[in-house]
Amino acid sequence: MGPDELKGLIRTVPDFPKSGIQFRDITTLLAHGEGLAGSIKQMAAIARSLDADAVAGIEARGFIFGTALALELELGFVPLRKAGKLPVETIGEDYALEYGTARLELDPTLVSDGEKVLLIDDLLATGGTAIAGARLLRRAGAVVEHALFVIDLPELGGARALADETLKTHSVISFEGH
Ligand code: PRP
Ligand code: MG
Repeated sequence: MGPDELKGLIRTVPDFPKSGIQFRDITTLLAHGEGLAGSIKQMAAIARSLDADAVAGIEARGFIFGTALALELELGFVPLRKAGKLPVETIGEDYALEYGTARLELDPTLVSDGEKVLLIDDLLATGGTAIAGARLLRRAGAVVEHALFVIDLPELGGARALADETLKTHSVISFEGH
């Protein structure tokens, strides 16, 4: 399945989580066998040119695509978890949400110095989440140059924000306008 067909499997839910927002829902893509396989194959085709030693995914939806991609590439998977879940000493990064803040945490012993880590998430909106993930991985010694998403929402400026952090954005699908 190509990017246009995959795009057709994503459900758009108007006015969620609040009025005026068009929520791009990946659950309809996940539940579709060819769609799930196709989205991982498209991500792998991009990832193969990026020369990664490991894949890192952001909880929660980034775990789904990140783990499947790591399997496809036969690489290890590093979880970037939401706060308070890891049983060992962690490093953390706070990031802004529309209302309040959130925090991602990493066990820094899971990456080695100079390891090239490809950052994965389902969707790029403002970029705050991905930037927090990249900062954490870099603090742990990883080299993080690329972030790969299933969906980019370019109007929200995520790719520009990532570029300011010297992170290159890649995506399978882009939703311009409505
Ligand atoms: C969503 C999405 C991305 C992030 C993108 O995660 O999965 O991780 O927001 O937004 P940003 O680019 O503006 O930071 P969310 O934390 O809402 O929920 P999840 O736990 O279901 O992944
Ligand atoms: Mg998320």
